[in-house]
Parts: sequence; C-alpha cells; structure tokens
Amino acid sequence: MNLVRLGDVLGPAEKGGYAVGAFNANNMEIVQAIIEAAVEERSPVIIQASQGAIKYAGLEFIVALVKTAAQNADVPVVLHLDHGTDFAQVMRCIRHGFSSVMYDGSKLPLEDNILMTSRVIEIARAVGVSVEAELGKIGGTEDDVSVEERDALFTDPREAEIFARETGVDALAIAIGTAHGVYKGEPKLDFPRLKRIRELTDVPIVLHGSSGVPDDAIRQAVELGVSKINIDTDIRQAFMGKAAEHMRENPDNIDPRKLLAPAKESAKKIIKEKMRLFGSAGKA
Ligand code: 13P
Repeated sequence: MNLVRLGDVLGPAEKGGYAVGAFNANNMEIVQAIIEAAVEERSPVIIQASQGAIKYAGLEFIVALVKTAAQNADVPVVLHLDHGTDFAQVMRCIRHGFSSVMYDGSKLPLEDNILMTSRVIEIARAVGVSVEAELGKIGGTEDDVSVEERDALFTDPREAEIFARETGVDALAIAIGTAHGVYKGEPKLDFPRLKRIRELTDVPIVLHGSSGVPDDAIRQAVELGVSKINIDTDIRQAFMGKAAEHMRENPDNIDPRKLLAPAKESAKKIIKEKMRLFGSAGKA
C-alpha cells in the first residue's frame, strides 16, 4: 500500500476505542521488524523517524526503506517525523515523502507555538501531509517532577482547547507524566488531566514516552481516548539486549546477519505485544 496520513489511522482508532502504535526506527532491521509485526498482527502502524534517526541513516534512506516496506505490506502505514523542532527540516521531510510530520514547538510560548504550528499546517495540508504538535513539556526520565512543577510542565487543558481550535492540528502530544527513556521509578500518569483535555477538545491525543509505562496505565490511557502511542526505548532494549546476548554467546561471530536477525526478531516480538495491548491488532 502507499503511505497513508495520521487521520487515516487515528480516525478509525478514535471510533473503535483503540490506539495505534508509533514505533521509532533508525535502521533497516527495525523498519522490517515494525512492518512484519504490523502484517502479522493485522494492525495499522505508524513508523516514525526522529531528527537523530535522520541524521544517522539519512533522509533518503529512511524514506526509501519505509516506502519499500509499506508497498509490500497490506496494512496502512504512516511515515511520520518525530519531534521536528527545525522548520526547515520539517519541510525537507514533507518534500522527501513523509506522509505526516510532528512540529514540536513545546519550548515556545503558547502564542509562538500556535503561530509556528499553523505555518507548518498550512504548507503540509496543501500537499496532503498530516501534522502533530506538542503542548506542555514531556521530560526525560531524569526529571523529578514535584507536585508544584506539574502545573508548570504538564499540559494545561484550557491551553489545549485553545491550541486545538486555533491550529486545527491533526494530533496533539500532551504532557501528563510520561517521559522519554528508561524510567527510574514507576511513572504516575495524571488521568484527570487527560480526561479534562478530552472533554475540552476532540483532537486525537498522543502519548509520548510510553516505553516502561505499566500495561494497566496504557489501557486506562486508551480508554480515556489516547489514540497514538509512541514507543522507542522498549524497541531499543529488545534489539540491543538480544544483540549483546548474541555477542556474549558467539564472541567469534563475524557475520552481521547472525547478530541482526535475532535482534530484529526480538524487536518484532515486543512490537507485536504492544499492538495487542493498544488494541490495534486485528484492525487492519
Ligand atoms: P520512549 O523512548 O520512552 O518509548 O518514547 C518514545 C517517544 O515518545 C518518541 O517520541
């Protein structure tokens, strides 16, 4: 299939009460793991590349890999830019064939975030590309958030309402207590805040930093209306854990395929589990 846009997978997810996984890829094996998982689970899927992944693999390579994988698959695939903070790079991704981009203006004051996101949307929409934005600050796991800091860092539901109305963005990443990377303790999600945001706006909601979040919390987030769930760290750990195990057991191996094939299978296994957890398995 050709690449599809966010709305093509998030619309049915919102109606069906499930979420679609957005899995980060930075090499061929991880792209293959994601696509094979989606096909085997009959799940729509979002493959996303961060600015770091693009720097590592090269924009043309990422696009060619994902397009090739999508063309050979019979499930809907979105190619999405994750956390684009640079306007020019967001434009390059659109030009090179991404079907969806995230413009991350979360560090900007609200007005400027609205302005920049709207600029991206005007251009993206003209060429049929969807846009995700971010409001609030999704920290790293090292950030220890106190109760007083919550209100300053987490997404303000009223601001979410204004932001969604003014921009008409296709999906909104919110800060409710998740963080990118490996958690030190158990993450505590602010579900009342998520509920309030959903009451005030009908924009599809994105949960970042979802690796390491307990399954029950993920289920609750989906029930409360999260429709895109980002996973990177869990894939890295599965992939690298298996690769390290292989090298320990086969220190003399000089064939990269013998290392990468089991690493890919390990990544695929965790991705399939996530698709079942999010409820997207069987929906394509
Ligand atoms: P994790 O690395 O915590 O899974 O977060 C991924 C993410 O949110 C990418 O935007």
